Amino acid sequence: MARKSRVIYVCEVCGHDSPKWMGKCPNCGAWNSMREARGVRESGKTSEKKEAKPTSLSKIETSRVARISTGFAEFDRVLGGSEKEQGIVPGEVILLSGDPGVGKSTVLLQMALNLSAKKARSILYVTGEESEGQVKLRAERIVGQEALDSYNLSILATVDTEAVMSAIAETEPDLVIVDSVQTIATDSISGFAGSIPQIRYATSQLVHVAKNAQIPIFMIGHVTKEGIVAGPQLLSHMVDVVLYLEGEQVSGTRILRAYKNRFGDTSEVGIFLMEEKGLVELTDASTFFMDRRDSAVPGSCLAVVLEGSRPLLVEIQALSVPSTLAFPRRVTTGIDSRRLELLLAVLQKHINLRVDKLDIFVNVVGGLQVREPAVDLAVCLAVVSSVRGAPLDFTCAVAEVGLLGELKRVASENVRVREAQRLGCKMVITPEKKHFLHEIMKDIL
Ligand code: TYD
Ligand code: MG
Repeated sequence: MARKSRVIYVCEVCGHDSPKWMGKCPNCGAWNSMREARGVRESGKTSEKKEAKPTSLSKIETSRVARISTGFAEFDRVLGGSEKEQGIVPGEVILLSGDPGVGKSTVLLQMALNLSAKKARSILYVTGEESEGQVKLRAERIVGQEALDSYNLSILATVDTEAVMSAIAETEPDLVIVDSVQTIATDSISGFAGSIPQIRYATSQLVHVAKNAQIPIFMIGHVTKEGIVAGPQLLSHMVDVVLYLEGEQVSGTRILRAYKNRFGDTSEVGIFLMEEKGLVELTDASTFFMDRRDSAVPGSCLAVVLEGSRPLLVEIQALSVPSTLAFPRRVTTGIDSRRLELLLAVLQKHINLRVDKLDIFVNVVGGLQVREPAVDLAVCLAVVSSVRGAPLDFTCAVAEVGLLGELKRVASENVRVREAQRLGCKMVITPEKKHFLHEIMKDIL
């Protein structure tokens, strides 16, 4: 079929293309986002008839494919699979995104080392961002200099999409990593590396080879200031899995989440710690998110959050001090500050706790971001404990707090209670016996 190259205009935000320039993208509504690109468009008539026979659902043959473990149980869990076998599906294309410096290159290099250890598999690591030497230094840091001989891992430093494609065709690796998709470009399309047409071209080439040769491909993709993967919808539509590595600089925790997964569940997360020799899995993460102390200190209460199917015990800390401001400060890390405002209003109204002249700080230990109302009661108890200077002794609270000061049961209550008991909490408070905040306060604070 004849193909002809001509100028098209592509929206930088959503990837919509149009034969003429427009001030506003008709697809996503972004202004001034159309950029010129030389695209290859199908032209001419489809003269020859193509055979296309639909198959009845019951007659379609499926073969169960074996998943490949990344060598990290935490990573495999996020990729999904059955209880017995989790990991990478052959031919799968995975986009890994996250803030700069969070550890994307590190985690994928570690995975490449796990998979290619003892030369079990051949891995191709394409680096457009760093030199071969830099990648080698990182690998040395992770496994040590002497060990490098025993890995079947090849590094290709290039920014040329065609070079990547021919390296894959020639070396036929078992798995490919492209770090990053925004750094590679081809001369056959106009636009600099990282522009929408270039990203689209590189991704479609990679998806094509992944599906044809059944090679799993990991691509690193950057996040823009707005927190979206550059070339957002476009990339996530094209790949099978979109992963996001998020973390906190101070505590070193890294959480891997799936936002899209054609072959698994998106509710599971993997938890890691960034250490001297790269990322380390936190398999028993529960005790990590609390500070172990010998004596009880006012302002602390435990809660159980669910990350995927996993319960994690987290410590909520509160600090209250007299305020010199007309509008006292409410500062939170790890929970929504508006939720704190609401809970403080409930405390003031229903248990008569005067907080209007106090600055209140609330922190979730370990740098976890908690989005569940299941920690409401723990936040309330931590605040009351701080305001009254009365410590709670290894107490865990599992309930949502309503505007009427009532306690509500939360999803998977029994899973959370069991986890708290397993880790030795002396008291676990749920709405089972007490239904209002004031009833609890009478008993414990
Ligand atoms: P990197 O993987 O380069 O991040 P990204 O590819 O997401 O931009 O990781 C960068 C940070 O990780 C860097 O600040 C150093 C730190 N790091 C460690 O703490 N330990 C290690 O073993 C490695 C390799 C990196
Ligand atoms: Mg990197």
